[in-house]
Amino acid sequence: MRPNRDELIILLSLSDPDEVEALYKRAYDVKKEYVGTTVYFRGLIELSNICAKNCYYCGIRSGNSKVKRYTIAKDEVLAEAKWCFEQGYGSIVLQSGEREDAAYTGYIVELIQAIKELSGGELGITLSLGEQTEEVYQKWYEAGAHRYLLRIETSNPQLYAALHPADHSYHRRLQCLRTLKKLNYQVGTGVMIGLPGQTVADLADDILFFYDEDIDMIGMGPFIPHHETPLADYSQSFDPAQALEAGLKMIAVCRIALKDVNIASTTALQALFPTGRELGLQAGANILMPNLTDVQYREGYQLYDGKPCLDENASLCKNCLENRIKSIGETIGYREWGDSRHFQGRRG
Ligand code: 5AD
Ligand code: SF4
Ligand code: FES
Repeated sequence: MRPNRDELIILLSLSDPDEVEALYKRAYDVKKEYVGTTVYFRGLIELSNICAKNCYYCGIRSGNSKVKRYTIAKDEVLAEAKWCFEQGYGSIVLQSGEREDAAYTGYIVELIQAIKELSGGELGITLSLGEQTEEVYQKWYEAGAHRYLLRIETSNPQLYAALHPADHSYHRRLQCLRTLKKLNYQVGTGVMIGLPGQTVADLADDILFFYDEDIDMIGMGPFIPHHETPLADYSQSFDPAQALEAGLKMIAVCRIALKDVNIASTTALQALFPTGRELGLQAGANILMPNLTDVQYREGYQLYDGKPCLDENASLCKNCLENRIKSIGETIGYREWGDSRHFQGRRG
């Protein structure tokens, strides 16, 4: 049933600590019933910080000349993918800034094919490489990718326009999501929470957007100002505790409203509070994305200030996350794809 907008607004507006706790608990019960308490890992490789776009909120926007740009070479990516496979992670996520040139899109084809080969087809491949043409999405699907993450960032077109230069198009982004779905990808999207100018009604509409677009996976996180962006000034009034709570409430309300989707507990939550990602799981998320990117590159992939684990390599993060999951009494789904139950239902 389509969620009720007024109800979403009421839930997202809760502020009494007991009521907020009760909201998380209700979301956790829905999670237990619909997706269980197994957490799935997606090993994340931040392939390249080169980006053709210039989003006002993002630390690696093309206009930030202070960032040293990198692209990880094929053999290094494959070594990380192999490690990820040997650890029993169900799937890997290749993420980077947005580039549509043939040299780069062809490089991705090679990577997908090589990762499929080294894992005997077992490692699931998720891409998070921005807006592309249908032909490119199709080529990547044929090479072996089966999931795609593309955040809409906000489902309010006016707000989208206020946060991006004039040549960035909300409409194209939406079309990309629909194309991905048509091509049979499992499709993930998401928004930032607490964007300048965003209202609680916008967030309720974001949840209705996920419902209407029949989205399988959701990755959301609080907006955190970055000091080298046009939105840097917002860091003066930024309140991490408030941002964390807004992020957790959004996860909880999404779980309650959408039930069987996969929801990631994102690193941005941990940037705001040391145990932020555990709190995300307890508010209804069921996916974690441990960072596999070699530490030498991490400095270069800071989309927001205060990103954690800059000095922790993949195995440190793995152990750390395992302990965090144990500490809240959940288990890890090793050697399983952990496909979105929503996607399974959608196809069947
Ligand atoms: N704060 C939080 N999230 C951000 N992203 C980009 N910049 C920021 C920021 N300042 C998110 C966007 C993008 C994802 C890769 O990172 O939602 O889609
Ligand atoms: Fe590029 Fe994505 Fe950052 Fe926008 S949010 S500048 S598309 S990396
Ligand atoms: Fe990276 Fe804890 S999650 S070290």
